[in-house]
Amino acid sequence: MTVSRRQVLLLGGLGALGAGALSFPSREVEAKSASRLSSAEMPKPFQSAFVQPPVLQQDRVGVDPADGGPVNYYTLTQKAAMASILPRLKTPILGYNGIFPGPTISLDQGTKAVLRVRNQLPATHPNDGHVLATSVHLHGSASLPQYDGYASDITHPGFFKDYNYPNFQPARTLWYHDHGVHFTAQNAYSGLAAQYHMHDPVERKLLPQGKYDVPLVISDAMFAANGALGYDDNTHSGLWGDVILVNGKPWPVMKVQKRIYRFRILNCSISRSLKLTLSTGDPLVVVATDGGLMPKPQSVANYRHAGAERYEVLIDFRKYKTGQRIELRNLSNKNNVDYDFTNKVMAFDVTDEPVDTADATWNTMPTLLAPGNEVMALTEKQAKKVRRFRVKRNHTTNMWTIDDTSWHDVIASGYKKVSAEVDLDAVEIWEFENKSGGWFHPVHIHLVDFKILSRNGRAPFPQELGPKDVVYVGEGETVRLLMKFGPHKGRYMVHCHNLPHEDHDMMVQFRVGLKEDDYDPCDPMTAALPQWDA
Ligand code: C2O
Ligand code: CU
Ligand code: CU
Repeated sequence: MTVSRRQVLLLGGLGALGAGALSFPSREVEAKSASRLSSAEMPKPFQSAFVQPPVLQQDRVGVDPADGGPVNYYTLTQKAAMASILPRLKTPILGYNGIFPGPTISLDQGTKAVLRVRNQLPATHPNDGHVLATSVHLHGSASLPQYDGYASDITHPGFFKDYNYPNFQPARTLWYHDHGVHFTAQNAYSGLAAQYHMHDPVERKLLPQGKYDVPLVISDAMFAANGALGYDDNTHSGLWGDVILVNGKPWPVMKVQKRIYRFRILNCSISRSLKLTLSTGDPLVVVATDGGLMPKPQSVANYRHAGAERYEVLIDFRKYKTGQRIELRNLSNKNNVDYDFTNKVMAFDVTDEPVDTADATWNTMPTLLAPGNEVMALTEKQAKKVRRFRVKRNHTTNMWTIDDTSWHDVIASGYKKVSAEVDLDAVEIWEFENKSGGWFHPVHIHLVDFKILSRNGRAPFPQELGPKDVVYVGEGETVRLLMKFGPHKGRYMVHCHNLPHEDHDMMVQFRVGLKEDDYDPCDPMTAALPQWDA
């Protein structure tokens, strides 16, 4: 157990301020754990069985009159519920259909979706009393602005909103989560997050499917003595839980066959970044990034994984012995607070169960994936413009900003203020500069997939050589990104995905294909209003 000086300072600072101590019965601070559970109630690694969220069934399948294509209609209800996370105590959560993670949505490219989200949450959050108005974002989808989970486009308890998803992009791991203005961190942390898988024929042929295509939603949490979630974002710097959850269970153990598995890894932590590695020293084979298949796989001994990023990795269990345990571990990164067991994530126990060899993916490591990916084929020469954004804390207001602008300014402008005005189909280079050594910022750009050109003038990491929508902008780093803006016109958000940063108030917007006074048929505040849920 190592306690860094920073950790002591953070916790000490918290104690002195008393900030965020809402859910804790005592202000006593210790660095060993963030949770206030007695040792009998505190979960330990590798005591829980691995589980997966259920797949959401559609209510019906319809036809889109515009093009005759199929449309899946789904309903989800946001509600308060009790979850079994700890060995004995129950934990109140807010969940899509009352579970965390919410149900996985799984469909094929070319099938559109209409997702009715009913807000049946209590009027206010039990911890701090904020109004439980929500906005649902399908992260990874090029949705129209009015269905994109625009932070201020909120749906109040007692209302529902129908979200339309186009699903025309290449196969990928998306996820849906709350994006409600100023309370995204607490709402997502309370449980409003889930995966969404879009398949296509390329990925179906190359990568394991079904039972061997496994979602891993990794998050960290801290608990009050009564089993409730604790929330402490260290004055909007970040929340660092001492319990690592995978699909909502602490450090679970999964039984595996001696074959290749595909894991869709989402770091769903609101602040913590991970550095994942296997206890065997064997590589993780990264095959897909946020925007789907990479041109070719990349083997890494370990890799940095910020909140909201998705990496799909293959793990080859063929050579291990029956009974062998392989751990997925977290080596951690700068500016995270580590506790006794945050270096562990989950474990795989190799069984002698007969290996399912029904298709070739059981023992075939692909060598080529999506060599023609559109975003990865873009070249710097196509870029018409270079824009630079500086991510930083404003030390006068203590707000996190992008170029000294925040969502507060966007609201004050009546949602007009934009940080970039981009032509439809324009190719541009966007640079994000993080001069401060104090924090890392996972920057997310809505609507687009981008290609990372460089970091501090050097090549991106191997695992980043695929289409992305979140980029880890580490301490003292500048990243250059290349992207094409389309196919939709309108206003979209850019923000830090450390959610306490986003909420306070590191989020701005850009506008595609429209001038400020143009009529916007997709105005995210007015084009698709929530309706009273009778
Ligand atoms: Cu995953 Cu704008 O968010
Ligand atoms: Cu997004
Ligand atoms: Cu940030």
